[in-house]
Amino acid sequence: MARTVGIGLIGVGWMGRVHSAAYRRCLDHFPDCAGAARLVVAADESEERAREAAGRLGYERWTTDWRAVIDDPDVEAVSITVPNGLHRDVAVAAAQAGKHFWIEKPVGRFPRETGEIAAAAEASGVRTLVGFNYRQAPAVRHARHLVESGALGVIDHFRAQWIAAYAASPQGALSWRFLRDQAGLGILGDLGSHAVDLAQFLLGPIASVTARTDTIVRERPLPTGAGTHFTIVEGGTPAPVENEDVVWSIVRFERGVTGTLESSRVAVGPQARYAFELHGSEGAVAWDFERMNELHVYRTSDGADAGYTRVLMGPQHSPFGHFQPGPGLPMGYDDLKVIEAASFLGSVADGVQREPGVREALAAASVIAALQRSAASGAWEQVGDLSLSG
Ligand SMILES: NC(=O)c1ccc[n+]([C@@H]2O[C@H](COP(=O)([O-])OP(=O)(O)OC[C@H]3O[C@@H](n4cnc5c(N)ncnc54)[C@H](O)[C@@H]3O)[C@@H](O)[C@H]2O)c1
Repeated sequence: MARTVGIGLIGVGWMGRVHSAAYRRCLDHFPDCAGAARLVVAADESEERAREAAGRLGYERWTTDWRAVIDDPDVEAVSITVPNGLHRDVAVAAAQAGKHFWIEKPVGRFPRETGEIAAAAEASGVRTLVGFNYRQAPAVRHARHLVESGALGVIDHFRAQWIAAYAASPQGALSWRFLRDQAGLGILGDLGSHAVDLAQFLLGPIASVTARTDTIVRERPLPTGAGTHFTIVEGGTPAPVENEDVVWSIVRFERGVTGTLESSRVAVGPQARYAFELHGSEGAVAWDFERMNELHVYRTSDGADAGYTRVLMGPQHSPFGHFQPGPGLPMGYDDLKVIEAASFLGSVADGVQREPGVREALAAASVIAALQRSAASGAWEQVGDLSLSG
């Protein structure tokens, strides 16, 4: 029998809705999960969105004051799904109040803030989960298994591309993602954090980096009302973009592999090409989130017939079987969040920290700090220790 965990939600936007649905669906897919969510209270600065949470999303109460969520005695754990600019204040307050949290990437606006959040969580001993959802995909886990089992031999190449088109139009509204005060870093934090986390999930720590960044669309129209980061504004008053659109990087892993990472929010063409390929002495794998349920696998042992095989994920590739009974029936993005919800609720209920928590976020932030330094210096930079003391 699952133990009930009182949930507070802070931020009822895209991710707030996805987290809420994931809590509601958790026991359908993971009936053995040790924790069961009770949706207690949701906060949004928009009263309309906060009310929606109490109605459509299933919360018992709503508020426009995020501190009331943390102070609520019925709330044991919080989802932090506001823009990045609030993450530090909310996460540190949650940790100090002894509330466990599931926080969206990139955690802090800047690596330093991620360090402060990680330090607060470690000091208070709360459980944390970070929304690096791509590492939850069955095909990504299978790729990691193939690396770790030695099936691909000695790994010698890695490349990752996290390319989105959400800001490819120069008429894309200047949403919070383009402002330093509200977002912090640009693509380095937004998609770069996912790419770095996935690279380290697959191949272990990155030791040194070189990087170049650029802001290609330097001005965007101010938003004319509520919208998303996909919103297009025709005409409109232009204002400056305050953070980077693109990063290109070469990275050197501690295990001796060299790889490339590229991430952009303005490249015309790919929509959500969150992809990697890695090569070893005996095989290779390639994955692209746009075809999330396929892993392309190459094995030299196939001799003259060797070629990339499209392997469809199925129940043998955990945790696919929690969602679909057979291969070819696709899982989707929101399902990755259900896996996160199960992991988070389970950790709150049984007290065992899961990955990725704030430690893994700190590991990604340490690489991002080095990418920033390299983009400024033009030189190779060592990945330093963003210590848990902040
Ligand atoms: N893991 C992923 O794949 C993924 C995808 C998208 C976004 N994110 C992350 O999720 C977070 C939220 O992004 P989003 O796309 O859901 O944003 P969003 O703009 O859709 O939603 C943010 C919500 O926060 C509310 N808000 C703003 N200030 C507030 C305040 N002071 N108090 C209460 N509510 C406030 C807004 O009204 C809005 O409803 C960001 O950190 C983002 O990086 C992660």
